[in-house]
Amino acid sequence: MVSRRFFVISLLLSILSSMLIPPAILGYARRLLTFRSPDTYGGYAIGDDIVDLPLPSLTGLVSVEEALASRRSIREYLPDPLTIVELSQILWASYGVTEFRYGFKTTPSAGATYPLNVYVVVYPRSVVLGNLSYLTEGSYIYIPEAHRLKLVKRGDLSRELYKACLEQEWILRAKAVIVITAIYERTTRRYGDRGVRYVWIEVGHAGQNIYLQATALQLATVAIGAFHDNWVREVIGAPVNEHTLYVMPIAKPAWRHKITREQLASYIGKHRL
Ligand SMILES: Cc1cc2nc3c(=O)[nH]c(=O)nc-3n(C[C@H](O)[C@H](O)[C@H](O)COP(=O)(O)O)c2cc1C
Repeated sequence: MVSRRFFVISLLLSILSSMLIPPAILGYARRLLTFRSPDTYGGYAIGDDIVDLPLPSLTGLVSVEEALASRRSIREYLPDPLTIVELSQILWASYGVTEFRYGFKTTPSAGATYPLNVYVVVYPRSVVLGNLSYLTEGSYIYIPEAHRLKLVKRGDLSRELYKACLEQEWILRAKAVIVITAIYERTTRRYGDRGVRYVWIEVGHAGQNIYLQATALQLATVAIGAFHDNWVREVIGAPVNEHTLYVMPIAKPAWRHKITREQLASYIGKHRL
């Protein structure tokens, strides 16, 4: 009897709530109820076009000196897909959280105004998930605080992005492409016109983080500055107040750069003559 009454009440409540409560709030409540620490995910969770990324690693096998010495702009790629773990690590390196009181990030930011948004365009069958399926193709925005991706635009965007980037072949051959946009007002509100310079400096920091993390993971990237700003923005589905600043394809490299200390010594020696 009690359980029948409970069933009727909860049915009525769910019908009422679906009529009265906006779906966004319902979705948020559902996520709260099903919350699990990212550590227990062992990978990813997909629902409502949200991809919870695996927790990034805070240790690695490559020292910062080795990454600096081996970093190169690489435009030749293998056809192998990326893994969600690799993509997660790259995104965290670009703009992930490293401090929990103010939400400071891997990238320094003038007055901690954080004007950048990081997007990733995922190509079809290009990012392998833990269960050997692939991340849905499309563009996603990275949400640093939740270390999660939110789908912005579904579909194979590779050719459009390639054309918007002046047909640079490496955009087409990549597996995923990071696009960094900026909302200038977040920084100019505080610093006036000088804030524009700060935003440009900051995107360089984020770009270098991506370069070094990619190198440490034995992945390839190249910083791309030559593209049609508004076209790239439209391809990724970003709003008009966001300005596209950097495009960085990610893939497995067809070659790797390596130098020895002896080679460096010899080079420096010659320049001291
Ligand atoms: C602001 C900026 C814009 C760039 N734009 C492009 C580009 O549009 N296409 C490209 O292939 N490389 C681009 N590059 C990469 C440079 O060509 C590359 O960094 C340079 O040749 C030095 O090689 P390295 O990065 O291997 O040291 C750009 C680099 C920077 C910093």
